[in-house]
Amino acid sequence: MTTDKPTIVLDAVVLGAGVAGLYQLYQLRREGLNVRAYEAGGDVGGTWYWNRYPGARFDSEAYIYQFFFDEKLYKDWSWTQRFPGQPEIERWLHYITDRLDLRKDISFNARVESAHYDEDRGRWTIKTGAGDVIDTQFFVSCGGMLSAPLHDQFEGMKDFKGQIVYTSSYPSEGVDVKDKKVGVIGVGATGIQVVQTMAPECGHMTVFARTPQYVVAMKNPTLGPKEQDAYKARYHELKESIPHTFSGFEYDWDPKITWATATPEERLQHMEATYQDGSLKMWLASFGEIFFVKEISDAVSDFVADKMRQRLKNDPHLVDVLVPTLDDYGFGTHRVPLENKYLEAYLLPNVEAISVRKNRNPIKRFVEKGIELSDGRVVELDVVILATGFDAGSGCLSRVDVRGKGGVSLREEWGKDIRTTMGLGKVGFPNLLTTAVPLAPSAALCNMTTCLSQQTEWITELVKTMRAQGQTKIEPTDEGEDKWVVHHDSLANATLVPKTDSWYMGSNVPGKPRRMLSYVGGVGTYRKKCDEEAEAGYPSFVRS
Ligand SMILES: Cc1cc2nc3c(=O)[nH]c(=O)nc-3n(C[C@H](O)[C@H](O)[C@H](O)COP(=O)(O)OP(=O)(O)OC[C@H]3O[C@@H](n4cnc5c(N)ncnc54)[C@H](O)[C@@H]3O)c2cc1C
Ligand SMILES: *[C@@H]1O[C@H](CO)[C@@H](O)[C@H](O)[C@H]1NC(C)=O
Repeated sequence: MTTDKPTIVLDAVVLGAGVAGLYQLYQLRREGLNVRAYEAGGDVGGTWYWNRYPGARFDSEAYIYQFFFDEKLYKDWSWTQRFPGQPEIERWLHYITDRLDLRKDISFNARVESAHYDEDRGRWTIKTGAGDVIDTQFFVSCGGMLSAPLHDQFEGMKDFKGQIVYTSSYPSEGVDVKDKKVGVIGVGATGIQVVQTMAPECGHMTVFARTPQYVVAMKNPTLGPKEQDAYKARYHELKESIPHTFSGFEYDWDPKITWATATPEERLQHMEATYQDGSLKMWLASFGEIFFVKEISDAVSDFVADKMRQRLKNDPHLVDVLVPTLDDYGFGTHRVPLENKYLEAYLLPNVEAISVRKNRNPIKRFVEKGIELSDGRVVELDVVILATGFDAGSGCLSRVDVRGKGGVSLREEWGKDIRTTMGLGKVGFPNLLTTAVPLAPSAALCNMTTCLSQQTEWITELVKTMRAQGQTKIEPTDEGEDKWVVHHDSLANATLVPKTDSWYMGSNVPGKPRRMLSYVGGVGTYRKKCDEEAEAGYPSFVRS
């Protein structure tokens, strides 16, 4: 885009104004940098701005999904539910933005389209769709792990005469589904929330289910003043403990009970107790062995599947379509969704579930009247809701024309092999610092505010150190990146995750190089590695 706007000269550009971008902007500004955030959306919130579909909700406890750097900021906000919905989360992010007075330093409706590094000057030139041209020393990406939705995945979508909506850009005025024939494609975490919320409101709902999920029933009590005071009283305890757990949640593996040492009754009791917590505890704090030992994974998977079969009243068709089998994959190797009467929605008379797996009846194409399946059946529809997921981790920056030294394209580099240095930088791209990119704990295996706080704080500390030491340039070394990739892969390979296809492995995007995208060593270990890197003077990077 040509532009008449004068070039803006900055110390740092922050891409994105979600959880990470907001906090990164605040920190760099506090350090005295001339910094500005550029956001594609019309307001702050990121994930919680875009995903405003009915039923969008946390599956992290709200009082954990928090910034802990300021006690008063934490305590002046009161959550009304354990797992609140998108409107409340969005309001909270507005509260954060206003309290920290961030809005004046954010440009909205300004998608970063290109970022080119000039080797001679050691600076980035960044251009946005709003016509901004920025000359900056640092380019800090806070573009999100799950922010690049997959679009146009089906043939014939243009032929469809009804309405197509994506959950990831759901219209804020809503969609009228009363008395309409509605199709939902996708039964991941988002599809599940859509089905359970919208099924009772639709005239008829057809759910096109490819990969069924092991689901856990959420318990979502309302929090009144008493409960709010109770969680706030734990501020210091939560602040200290959460960053060091495996998942960045408050719960952790109980060292006193392992599958290997428990009796069959104790195993059952522990599974039942973690399941009854109605949270992700069943996944991230039941038996750590599920990630490593097939037999244990099978046993826990079967426990969860059994709960699901009972809730589906053992209906053979529904069980076949909606309950994963041990041959599919094990519990926990995909992200585990929490739900609320999701399975019961399929027992309603106006809801039909169709298996569109490869070996069943996959979607062939959209047609004028609806969706045609491989067996020739046409399902007539008025509205299709697509909950078809994201190009995770590498998707955001791959959609920007990022060029490093020698004009090398990041998109092309990641098109060959997805590598990063600790998820914080990339060889060949000096002064590019990243959050929520592959090879760090991310949306898969971490409560994201915990991990994003840690990454942005690490980046701030680095920038501070460089300025104190009079340095202007930082770049990862080949050896540093190699070392991290090998460390990351060896941990991933020891688990069962790489053995299954999922978005964790990039399998949902045709042609995406296969690699476990999220670091599996645990949030606590990752933090320790990052701290060690800083304390040792950043040996995986060169500074000048
Ligand atoms: C439906 C859904 C439910 C989730 N639920 C949970 C949960 O319960 N718990 C949890 O921990 N995590 C959850 N997550 C993960 C969630 O993404 C993170 O918790 C967190 O919100 C990520 O924050 P972020 O700042 O890294 O990225 P985002 O919130 O994705 O923000 C990135 C921002 O960058 C902007 N952007 C991207 N590209 C550009 C560009 N080129 N130029 C300018 N701006 C750009 C985007 O518009 C976006 O606003 C969920 C994700 C989704 C999609
Ligand atoms: C991990 O597994 C992949 C696929 O089997 C293999 O190519 C790679 O070398 C392994 N890496 C490590 C570090 O073990």
